[in-house]
Amino acid sequence: MCGIVAIIRSHTTLEENNLESLPEVLISSLNRLEYRGYDSAGIALGYAEEDGVLSTDPDTRRPTIERFRAAVSTRSLEELKKQVEPAVHSAHTAGRDYNRGIGHTRWATHGRPSEQNAHPHQDCSGSIAVVHNGIVENWRELADELTSTGHLLESETDSELIAHLIEEEIGDTDMLEATRRAIKRINGSFAIAVMDANSPHSLVVVRRLSPLVIGTGKGICVTASDIPALLGFADAYYVLEDDEIASISPDGIHAFDFAGNPAQLHPIPVSWDIDAAQKSGYDDFMGKELNEQPAAIKDTLLGRMTTAGSLTLDETRIDDESLRDVDKVFVVGCGSSYHSGLIGKYTLEHWARIPTEIDISSEFRYRDPILSSSSLVIGVSQSGETMDTLRAISLAKNSKAKVISISNVVDSSITRHTGGVIYTRAGPEVGVAATKTFSTQITALQMLALYLAQLRGLLYPDEIGSLFDQMRTIPDLVQTALDRSEEVLTVAKEIADRRDLFYIGRNTGYPVALEGALKMKEIAYLRAEAYPAGELKHGPIALIEPGTIVIAVATRGRLWEKMHTNISEVKSRGATVVGIVNDEDDQTASLVDYALFVPKTPPLLDAVVDVIPLQFLAYHVAKLKGLNVDRPRNLAKTVTVE
Ligand code: AGP
Repeated sequence: MCGIVAIIRSHTTLEENNLESLPEVLISSLNRLEYRGYDSAGIALGYAEEDGVLSTDPDTRRPTIERFRAAVSTRSLEELKKQVEPAVHSAHTAGRDYNRGIGHTRWATHGRPSEQNAHPHQDCSGSIAVVHNGIVENWRELADELTSTGHLLESETDSELIAHLIEEEIGDTDMLEATRRAIKRINGSFAIAVMDANSPHSLVVVRRLSPLVIGTGKGICVTASDIPALLGFADAYYVLEDDEIASISPDGIHAFDFAGNPAQLHPIPVSWDIDAAQKSGYDDFMGKELNEQPAAIKDTLLGRMTTAGSLTLDETRIDDESLRDVDKVFVVGCGSSYHSGLIGKYTLEHWARIPTEIDISSEFRYRDPILSSSSLVIGVSQSGETMDTLRAISLAKNSKAKVISISNVVDSSITRHTGGVIYTRAGPEVGVAATKTFSTQITALQMLALYLAQLRGLLYPDEIGSLFDQMRTIPDLVQTALDRSEEVLTVAKEIADRRDLFYIGRNTGYPVALEGALKMKEIAYLRAEAYPAGELKHGPIALIEPGTIVIAVATRGRLWEKMHTNISEVKSRGATVVGIVNDEDDQTASLVDYALFVPKTPPLLDAVVDVIPLQFLAYHVAKLKGLNVDRPRNLAKTVTVE
């Protein structure tokens, strides 16, 4: 997840506030956004006129911007510091300092991590610099338009287009208006900061759907993606709302809506300490990441439906011709990634009508699978580094199968080994337990199923459109489920002292049960076993005795009534049953001891919503037991060993 910072100060602010030079202040702000994860970074700097100089091009004498960028993974900020030191030194020697700058930590989504793709991006003249967090959905159309009118694009990013769009508008107007006109041409999400070499006394910031806060302090104004970047300089901050734009200067903020009406900003005192702030106020990363699921799913869906109404995954380099010929799909993954494959199977078979096998990576590679050039192997891995999945993919490649991956990390080992990639845009996941990467993997597999159905002509365009619209409703339904965390806590208190739990479900409810049990094992250390509910009577039911806890995923899927029978079977043997139940389903609620309600979802899309109370259940039980949910014992976030 990218982070942006923009700082502008008055002439004497830094000495008065006992701060270092502006580039150092800017880089230390970016450092505080490091927790968002990044693979490259950059800054752009400018002088004010009162320092006696503007940075100028020696040939044209036109004001320019000084830009520094680095792409050495998590050492990029250190590297930037080194790069900028000589410039700071010569400025000090000349008795001046930069008055403004914009900076960016990049988590690659569009274009690999490289210096060329690192922000800030500039227009053709080099006098406009832009940092951007978000996604330009219509980048392909815009890139065509801009190149056809002579703009030279130097990166593979969607963000660079914004600098060129502003360049097109700035001729007859100021930076604020030019930016406002430019962003009207963009579909998607953005938090943007703009710096213009010709406007040394202000910066422009604008927002839609991506976070942006503006902090003010003595003679300084700082804008950033998150509050930690403001700490140390700002006494108060303001939240810029969606579709608002502001000009910031050391004297204050002038904010407007896109129609040009003044926007009302309300000051909020800065009261966070840096440590708490990096978790955005949550006690731990898992709590934060769990709550980020609606935004993560939304981002993963962004830009996949063209204005002409067809689903597109072509940025993923998947060759349509060969995909059309696929006669069998294999999904391979480990842990939660394996579970998302199990859920994806339902849509791959139902929508795309392709026989689909799901395998645990470490089993797949040793079982001599029957693969051919018409097999499609999908490697699912949030980290993109899991050794077992990497090896499974190599096996598939060697057997001439087509191979694609679903990953959350751009340019990771697994994505480099596969012909095509679908990136989940969940942002970095720090907690060991997968939450937002799990739900976005399911979203990616569902999109792929829909895409294959489209390629194979199995669904009409309006059916594809309507299924995709249904997928777009999921983030709000997930949010509703997240808002009920307190109800889950009540149940967590009832079960926290038990040792053994059973999870049951049918259809997509079975992998949801598996995922719920995995979460409970890995962070709360309870013996949690999941079974297909219909399988209970073939053995596991012998373990049910009075007081045994059974967690039943019993939302209204195709086999809802059969779940009632299974619930009765365990109840009659004395089990205490916690049901995951749809809103207004009194019938199921009356059968269980505790009902955890979730909103009803469209058919086949229920898993992402139904899993939320199970994620919370594990989270609350672990917290009640005083365990560290982010770093459970014996586990690593990335498993690079066999
Ligand atoms: C999930 O909560 C676990 N931490 C673990 O099972 C994980 O899903 C597995 O190790 C696979 O990781 P990957 O997605 O990075 O390949």
